Amino acid sequence: MKKLILMVLLLSTAVMAEPNQAVTKLSDETRNLFKAEMSFIKSGMDEILYGMISGDDEKVQKIAGEIRDSFIFTTSLKPRNVEELKTLPKQFFTFDAELHGGASELANAAEFNDKEAMKDSYFKMVNSCTKCHATFATHRFSRFLDDE
Ligand code: HEC
Repeated sequence: MKKLILMVLLLSTAVMAEPNQAVTKLSDETRNLFKAEMSFIKSGMDEILYGMISGDDEKVQKIAGEIRDSFIFTTSLKPRNVEELKTLPKQFFTFDAELHGGASELANAAEFNDKEAMKDSYFKMVNSCTKCHATFATHRFSRFLDDE
């Protein structure tokens, strides 16, 4: 039994990505732009939650659409910031795509007032936050390191 538990533990850590500090090596300029983006997304998620619990699908659609379109690549980044971000590991962009894919689904679901699909896609977004933070932001959210 003990062996089995150990094996399951080993397998589950094997599929979890190792913490990666690549983001801390970005220039201050690029990193600050990225952090500003994160804060924008954080307030957006709060507003969406309030929109959902108050039945305001229109508001959810609007803000989810903003997050979908918000990728830092498309906003205030200069070419030199873009070049720098491109050096981040591929997995970072997989998580980012999950976040923006979830936002896109949420905007669609809200447009059709599909409450169940709205909850599913909101959760998909939350899942992308935690996965990316547990891998690429343990310097900022160090509690993820305790989970292992
Ligand atoms: C693709 C990866 C990725 C995804 C997806 C992601 N984050 Fe982050 N987030 C980071 C990284 C990396 C940092 C740390 C940035 C740093 O220290 O420079 C961070 C930092 C933050 C911060 C702190 C910003 C600061 O000023 O220190 C907040 C708040 C945040 N994220 C919210 C969210 C929320 C909410 C979501 C999901 C809706 C999310 N993030 C999704 C990678 C991600």
